[in-house]
Amino acid sequence: MRKRLIVSAASALALLLAVPASAATPSPGAAGVGDPYYPTYGNGGYDVSHYDIRLKYQPATDLLEGTTTILATATQDLSRFNLDFVLDVQQVLVNGRAARFASTGEAELEITPDRPIAKGSPVTVVVRYSGVPGEVERDGYSAWLRTPDGGVAANEPVAAWWWFPSNDHPTDKATFDVSVLVPDGTQVISNGLSTGQSSRAGWTRYNWRQTKPQATYLATLAIGRFDVRTDTTPSGLPVITAYSKDLGENDGAARASVERTGELVDWLSGYFGEYPFTSVGGYVPNVPTGYALETQTQIFYSPAQFARGANTSVVVHELAHQWYGDSVSVQRWSDIWLNEGFARYSQWLWSEHENEGTAQEIADYVYSYYPANDAFWTVKPGDPGADHQFSSAVYDRGAVAVQALRNTVGDEKFFQILKGWPTERRYGNATVQQFQAYAERISGKKLGDLFTTWLFTPSKPAVPSAGAPAKAAAGPASAAAALPQEPRSWKKIQETNSLHDNGSGHGHGR
Ligand code: ARG
Ligand code: ZN
Repeated sequence: MRKRLIVSAASALALLLAVPASAATPSPGAAGVGDPYYPTYGNGGYDVSHYDIRLKYQPATDLLEGTTTILATATQDLSRFNLDFVLDVQQVLVNGRAARFASTGEAELEITPDRPIAKGSPVTVVVRYSGVPGEVERDGYSAWLRTPDGGVAANEPVAAWWWFPSNDHPTDKATFDVSVLVPDGTQVISNGLSTGQSSRAGWTRYNWRQTKPQATYLATLAIGRFDVRTDTTPSGLPVITAYSKDLGENDGAARASVERTGELVDWLSGYFGEYPFTSVGGYVPNVPTGYALETQTQIFYSPAQFARGANTSVVVHELAHQWYGDSVSVQRWSDIWLNEGFARYSQWLWSEHENEGTAQEIADYVYSYYPANDAFWTVKPGDPGADHQFSSAVYDRGAVAVQALRNTVGDEKFFQILKGWPTERRYGNATVQQFQAYAERISGKKLGDLFTTWLFTPSKPAVPSAGAPAKAAAGPASAAAALPQEPRSWKKIQETNSLHDNGSGHGHGR
């Protein structure tokens, strides 16, 4: 939110009279929303309310083709505007008229409508396209994960580029309809609820609908041979889970983890308040990746996360993101601690619940595990930089910061904050600074030093135990130097993102 200039009524009137509305010159929408980490992500000049994505996919050739229809409102007088996209475009219509278009930069589709668009007016954009998404790379990287039986779009901070044109930044959320035609025997998974399917002449069309605001990177598409299961939680929330038919020896552990989704979402609701969406679930495709992604309501998991047995911890992590990340999303990618710090902390709460180590014990373990000269401490979780957006410091030190907050404000205020924040900010965007202000308001305490110490200092803070009061019988005094016993949940928690490469979700050094 920008501070408004205070202008007297008289001078405002004079300005209005001096510049008649008809004199406004339409100008191009910006090629990015101005995110400091990724200046070209998203676009300026319009606000999307809905995506209607209608595709056909052939698993044998990886050919993806169809149209995306975007409903938007112009936020300025526009001479042209951009979408973010990398596949080949054949045609663009703006408000029903053919528009000129060009692919530029890393992922920009520049659209020049046949006539300018006035600020505040509705805009309908139809983009007709085709491509082989698995073959399109940006700096050696593709968010389209090819599987033996199809493909999956799931990555962070960008995945949309490879399957639909969009205003690709979390600040522009929208509702989604996704409809994909595939050969019979192949299934299609996307976000929200299935609105039915129809078969004809060897092809089946699957339809999915997300009715709650959704960020573009949280939209997912999975095509392949899946075993799909539907159920409801005791409170009536639909649960949809899907498992690739080729999970092999990981099949049992994957199901034993993801089938607990309903129980775990109810358990998390006790901490975070009412679940924000109209369905929940997850899918496990046959991909070689080692990360999961909190794709809205329909979570993406990797089989590798279940290679050593069931892992409910990763399910808790991704479900926690439905509140911290999906319902309340980052304002800028630098605010990633609001996602990962809290999703990781929820795993610590689950560990405590399962008697596998308390949150305080795991915080102490993290603190001792990384010596002061370890590069771990050079990453500031509150502003890690684009190259370290998904570094372990954002998760582990980020969760120590949450424990430090708990120790500073006390359990009562802490749990009030944990539940109040996603309730107050539901479906919105927020910054770390806004979270700090909220925690200060609820706790009545100044938290500047705490946030500086744990989130914004590129070295190991001299605050063992995340500021917890020393226990009466804390063992021998010399124990300070020794590494505490490894919490029983430690390895499972680390497996959530065990295959993180350079910590950059985008996979190319920035
Ligand atoms: N938000 C995801 C998680 O922690 C992280 C995705 C990281 N992506 C990657 N390509 N490493 O659950
Ligand atoms: Zn996460």
